Amino acid sequence: MKPKIIIDCDPGHDDAIAIMMACQLTEILGITTVSGNAPLDLTTDNALLLTELVGLNVEVHAGAEKPLLLPPRHAEEAHGKTGLDGPSRPKVKRSANSSDAVRFIIDTVRDNDDVWLVPIGPLTNVALAVQQAPDIVERVAGISIMGGSATVGNVTATAEFNVWADPHAASIVFSAGLQPFRMAGLNLTHKFGIDEQIITDLRGINNQVADFAADLFDFYLMSYQKRTRGQRVPLHDPCAVLAITHPELFEFELRNVTVETEGVYTRGMTVVDQRGWGDQPLNCEVAYEIDRDRGMQIFLETMETYTVS
Ligand code: RIB
Ligand code: CA
Repeated sequence: MKPKIIIDCDPGHDDAIAIMMACQLTEILGITTVSGNAPLDLTTDNALLLTELVGLNVEVHAGAEKPLLLPPRHAEEAHGKTGLDGPSRPKVKRSANSSDAVRFIIDTVRDNDDVWLVPIGPLTNVALAVQQAPDIVERVAGISIMGGSATVGNVTATAEFNVWADPHAASIVFSAGLQPFRMAGLNLTHKFGIDEQIITDLRGINNQVADFAADLFDFYLMSYQKRTRGQRVPLHDPCAVLAITHPELFEFELRNVTVETEGVYTRGMTVVDQRGWGDQPLNCEVAYEIDRDRGMQIFLETMETYTVS
């Protein structure tokens, strides 16, 4: 039985791969979009484009166009002007089902048992949903996010983009009582990197979805290597999907995690209590290790299942 999920995303190159994998590995009940890597209109258009590319007939609902309190911030340097630079863009035929992602999340969790929330962008929509409908906290099967970090940040020395972009929303979500709460932070996703070999393997699959992913990676690799000295590019968002579908690939530690919303140098930091004692609730399964090669094999296997040509 495939896990039922709602993906809340800001496509985004790695969001796109997460959707491609989730389409094969899970039952996606719907996709909601949020301002993040790019403005909301672009992340929504990109989500629609991706559902058409993979032949996914699910609802797409647009959500928050800005964080709860802060101005919107984007990541054009990583994802380009469209948020999905690289591949040629087919014309998107469909439109979003609504501009009320929060209502969709609430209604879908209330109407379905055992739904996982899979936020892989800023947590604004999920924060609004648990604020407006606290009853959904007990109803979800769990939450699996890409966000935060138990070590270094990427936007700042301490803050990862999804949490940094809306730290107030992240603080609400981490303290809402959602359980199990799996966190794939940068400390983990930096161990799940793609390289030229993965792109070569993708090109060898010969279907439209794999080719689109390879075009995404060509851009993503180039843009990442321009900004860092890394040879492998972390594939962040798919880790949140794999943490549900293949938890055996990971090593998790139960930790107390809180979010810094005020710090001059640390705003957006996920403060992971690694002391192993303390009276704070252990609210989060923090991922520390992943079997990268097996995860990449699963990624390539899902891409091979597409027959869209
Ligand atoms: O910090 C990485 C995260 O920020 C990923 O979700 C990426 O898509 C961006 O949203
Ligand atoms: Ca993302």
